[in-house]
Amino acid sequence: MRIPAKGIAKTPLLASLDDARAKDADWRNGRTFSLVYWAGDDVLEVLHDAFMKYFSENALNPLAFPSLKRFESEVVAMAGNLLGHPSVAGSMTSGGSESILMAVKTARDWARSHRPNIKEPEMVLPISVHPAFQKAAHYLGVKAVHTPIDAGFRADAAAMKSAITDNTILLVGSAPAYPHGVVDPITEIATLALDRELLCHVDACVGGFMLPWVKKLGYAVPDFDFSVPGVTSMSADVHKYGFAAKGASCVLYRSRELRRHQYVAYADWPGGLYGSPSAAGTRPGGPIAAAWAVLQHLGEDGYLRIAQQSMTTARAVMDGIRAIPELRVMGEPTMSIFAFDSAAVDVYALADAMDRRGWHLDRQQKPPSLHMMITPAHAPHVAEILADLEKSVAEVRGSTAASAGSAAMYGMLGALPDRSQVNEFILEFMDSLDAKS
Ligand SMILES: Cc1ncc(COP(=O)(O)O)c(C=O)c1O
Repeated sequence: MRIPAKGIAKTPLLASLDDARAKDADWRNGRTFSLVYWAGDDVLEVLHDAFMKYFSENALNPLAFPSLKRFESEVVAMAGNLLGHPSVAGSMTSGGSESILMAVKTARDWARSHRPNIKEPEMVLPISVHPAFQKAAHYLGVKAVHTPIDAGFRADAAAMKSAITDNTILLVGSAPAYPHGVVDPITEIATLALDRELLCHVDACVGGFMLPWVKKLGYAVPDFDFSVPGVTSMSADVHKYGFAAKGASCVLYRSRELRRHQYVAYADWPGGLYGSPSAAGTRPGGPIAAAWAVLQHLGEDGYLRIAQQSMTTARAVMDGIRAIPELRVMGEPTMSIFAFDSAAVDVYALADAMDRRGWHLDRQQKPPSLHMMITPAHAPHVAEILADLEKSVAEVRGSTAASAGSAAMYGMLGALPDRSQVNEFILEFMDSLDAKS
């Protein structure tokens, strides 16, 4: 495709965008279980209007746009207050992955100045942490040392202790981890870090703007934030359960001294003195303004209402799943994200059967399971989800036909002992995507 020789007028152009998205996932009717967080069109309108006011602004230069710097500082402060540290230091980033990348870079550079003997730094990661840590390892030259999770799908702190070597700089726990929605034993992990004088990052990308409300509503939530001694940094995404526009996360530190290791300064560029807090150069103003606006607009009362609705809906879906004899909710999910598996049916075939009914469930592995992330968008659809799950289980129960569709692919890839072959398959797949256009 080439840029058209003659520009196309706005009306037909926007109509072609509407045509293009007609077959995309129907998130407004609860058909997706991750990817989109929607708290209603009234909230969307506030986000949209705030975003559009700052559509063209660039937070790269805080001197040119002091209002964006103020919003960023205030979002970070609001997150810190929510997460047990009123005088927190931090930055906003484009999302959870960038926040994690920054936290690992900070740990690496902290170790360079405080533990200069370490030449090959390592971080200890329960296998359930988000792949962004693997990405950070890859980009930053920090070795990822993986440790198992226990029967309840939580990080095994004893295994983490055994994995610490003289090269370890960072221990990581999740609150909660994405795959099973359970909070790791943060107090144990952070105590270990304190004892060994290591840094400890809590990835609360998905839980940071949800668990505090869940706790306030009276549900059991283990300690997971800066109130736990030894936790030195956290990531918390406003664009997940903060219901902000995409492109908004916080990376938070116990001290300014620690945050300093995140920054990059370059004094010798002919283009001028350059300082950058995070991975991005140009930083879109829209997500920062919208994040600030939605926190102000919803307030504690709005977030408590949304958290209650998400929890009630998630519990209803989980209870319904538990009532289907073939299915099992895995572990004891702390909030509104969870996984279920089955000893009786092929869950990948089940996911394909749900796909045919319009529901997009994420497939997981080790062991095979399906994932749900519940938000208020699902509240009106609980009965429908459960009825379709029951029908889909009946459809795939006792099926002796060879698996087809994604079930066959997942089954085959899951069984391959050589994971480098699977990595190669993933890379091939990514390469093949743009060939279609
Ligand atoms: C626990 C956790 N950490 C990190 C991330 C990465 O966030 P993002 O997709 O915004 O980069 C996710 C995304 O789902 C997550 O669930």
